[in-house]
Amino acid sequence: MKLEQLQQALMQREAQQLKRSPVVLQQYKGRVIRVANKDYINFSGNDYLGLACDPQVLQAYADGALRYGAGSTGSPLVTGQHAIHQQLNDTLCEWLGFERSLLFSSGFAANQAMLMTLSDKHDVLLLDKLSHASLIDAAQHSTASFKRFAHNDLSALAQQLQRHQEANAMVVTEGVFSMDGDSPDLAATAKLCQQHNAYLLLDDAHGIGMLGEQGRGSAAAQQVASSELFCSMANFGKALGVAGAFIGASSTVIDYLEQFARHYVYSTGLSPALCAAVLTSIRLCREQQWRRDKLQQNIQLFRQLAIAADLPILTSNTAIQAVIIGSSEQALQLSAALKQPQIWLSAIRPPTVPVGSARLRVTLSSQHQTADIHQLITYLRQNYDLIA
Ligand SMILES: Cc1ncc(COP(=O)(O)O)c(C=O)c1O
Repeated sequence: MKLEQLQQALMQREAQQLKRSPVVLQQYKGRVIRVANKDYINFSGNDYLGLACDPQVLQAYADGALRYGAGSTGSPLVTGQHAIHQQLNDTLCEWLGFERSLLFSSGFAANQAMLMTLSDKHDVLLLDKLSHASLIDAAQHSTASFKRFAHNDLSALAQQLQRHQEANAMVVTEGVFSMDGDSPDLAATAKLCQQHNAYLLLDDAHGIGMLGEQGRGSAAAQQVASSELFCSMANFGKALGVAGAFIGASSTVIDYLEQFARHYVYSTGLSPALCAAVLTSIRLCREQQWRRDKLQQNIQLFRQLAIAADLPILTSNTAIQAVIIGSSEQALQLSAALKQPQIWLSAIRPPTVPVGSARLRVTLSSQHQTADIHQLITYLRQNYDLIA
């Protein structure tokens, strides 16, 4: 009975052109990936600054394993917190201006901990409509009440805040939205929260490293001090090219999470070798402004060419550029057609994006060359005409 039910759900996914399976990479070399013995220019990764393959990061990983061990061998409050974890926390606080930070095995876990632990039944969580699945799930599983406001719409947020005057309102938004690549006005959002005695919680998974001076992220890029946020999370698996995540906040918030966040307390600590790699990645990210400059050049080139070619792109000044197709079937067709000229560009379909807004989500990196972007636009335009 249960198996039949599962099979039926799988068949339904397939019939709706929504079935997904992982792509197996034989090799990852930054801008080029090898799949089934063929090389492709990769426009679907999150390695925005090209740090995942940087020789210094790789060396730090290898040296870290030899020096500190491959695994932490315990949960953080037992024996899983090593000196290198503390060093990483200290570096995060010095870099980003938080009083304290806490490490998590993934951004998904950090978001679960952030919303589920910090809110209670007296609170209302107000989430942007396009919030990442990890935030939505966390809000749904929390004891707080949960409402969503129209995407990046401050007046919709103000109305919600007005409506929930009685409760502790916790406003949750993202520095860079993962599927559209756009950003909220964080300074205005922080001000609005202040006026309503609400708390602002930020997911900066796609902003850290990419935006702001020394890659300090979305809040810094918009002149919002870390102290204006109730807390902020970001992960190490995107611009920093490794894996894992952290939450940064005041000492009180982090002390509380350290005691009560089940995703932290009951989970094996991050690998110390990984922490060593992240530390090197952060150092390079801070020192090497050329990576952000090159990424910006690539973003501007992509936008200029896409607009000239009349491609239906969303407004975004970040590494995430969405070409909206609409139908899942056509998005898949276009993605498949681009494989012939060796371009890897994945189709993103519901439920990851709203129904009717299937897209090709281009992610740019500092490693892309000018010719790669020209080639992408040429083949996108040619094949878009064939499917339209
Ligand atoms: C906005 C956002 N938040 C959180 C996550 C989860 O982070 P992680 O992949 O480290 O679990 C992701 C991406 O996967 C994301 O795009």
